[in-house]
Amino acid sequence: REGGFETPLPTSGPRGAQSHLTERKNLPRATSARTSLKKKPALPLARAERKPLDRKIKHPRATSARSHLKKTLTPRTRPPKSKAPVINRCPIEERIPIIMEKNIAVIWGDCSSPEIVKQTLRVLDKVAEKYGHIFHYTDAAMGGEAIDKYGDPLPQHELDKCLAADSVLLGAVGGPKWEGLPGEQRPEKGLLRLRAGMGLYANNRPAKIWPQLAPASPLKPEIVAKGIDFIIVRELIGGVYFGKHETYTLENGEKQAVDSMPYSEHEIERIGRIGFETAMKRRRKLCCVDKANVLDTSRLWRAVMHRLQAEYPEVEYSEMFVDNCAMQVVKDPSQFDVIVTENMFGDIISDEASMITGSIGMIPSSSLGDGTRGLYEPIHGSAPDIAGKDIVNPTACILSAAMMLRYSFGMAEEADAIENAVNKVLDKGLRTADNMSEGCTCLGCTAMGDAILAEI
Ligand code: IPM
Ligand code: MG
Repeated sequence: REGGFETPLPTSGPRGAQSHLTERKNLPRATSARTSLKKKPALPLARAERKPLDRKIKHPRATSARSHLKKTLTPRTRPPKSKAPVINRCPIEERIPIIMEKNIAVIWGDCSSPEIVKQTLRVLDKVAEKYGHIFHYTDAAMGGEAIDKYGDPLPQHELDKCLAADSVLLGAVGGPKWEGLPGEQRPEKGLLRLRAGMGLYANNRPAKIWPQLAPASPLKPEIVAKGIDFIIVRELIGGVYFGKHETYTLENGEKQAVDSMPYSEHEIERIGRIGFETAMKRRRKLCCVDKANVLDTSRLWRAVMHRLQAEYPEVEYSEMFVDNCAMQVVKDPSQFDVIVTENMFGDIISDEASMITGSIGMIPSSSLGDGTRGLYEPIHGSAPDIAGKDIVNPTACILSAAMMLRYSFGMAEEADAIENAVNKVLDKGLRTADNMSEGCTCLGCTAMGDAILAEI
């Protein structure tokens, strides 16, 4: 693996706002180790005794968003593929399951978010128990919770907790309670500062339809039947989100506001490369989405992308204006494999892409930078309107945890276990309110957590 994102998962929705958390005290808030060690000794030897030694174990390899940099220094030549049968030459000790200890910073989030995070930690605990890993959780406050506690959506000490962790799990932040605050003090600002503070420039938002949810897609069945399986690689810490924001009064007394959208070449190049690398691991199609008929930033994007294109001759590269892309996503989503785009276009297109897959509650996301430490969050919002009702869909958050295992911890088998569990639950016709179809059974948040746990 060398940069770029591999296996995609399913979908999302808008970030809602909401009320305030009153029930937080009831939630199990783990600050110390939750581990299976109490129940059984999770030593390599103990597991080796239980499992046959010749079972081939995938080597854990975490994904940096950018080990591909080495590639820039050497020509891209592929080693010839050997026709010889591959013999398992793994030394015996490497075939023993590898037990890992990881520190996860947990941002419980606002409104209905703690409900989905609670179910996600149950799932992570089950994975730890099953595979003998040890996950330590440290609560970190960001968004509305941090505003209430510290008067700041992301105080430095909370960011430091995230920087000290191996990865960060986040629900969703924001809500009506904090809506009147000025831009700098809003919960969303905490999220932007977290992404920037952790250097997470590459946001991976998969839009893949679970076949079981096809009836829940708003698209015509014949369009869905052609397949929906693409990834949006969104630039996350540049552009208009991080440009200058200003509101001032003109001489005539009228107010004027300005938001600027800066992009420099290195920012475009590093995300463009992730786009190409991601395409190389998939169907080798990359579409750069921009507004080059109007924006200078988009024209610079294209110039940089053309330079990169020369390094990836195997990738079928194309360009599309963002307005056309919005249309094509609903007209024929099967044409897309990987989309690479700037921050705000990615925000908008990813909400649209999530919706066509049939549910706002199914799409996870990962954000990575140069290292393996990432931020994992569902792409939906904190759904204030349904907070405290135990009806929010925990699946996107649970699938985000699966992405964390896959991309940051190199635990592919464990990630598969979670995704397969979700698949089985859907096979059984179990749904939540957001993706309910006729003939299925509608579960609440805790019951959906129970159902997924039961399949792991
Ligand atoms: C998202 C959200 C955020 C964004 C908001 C909450 C700042 O919409 O993650 O898609 O625009 O990036
Ligand atoms: Mg969004």
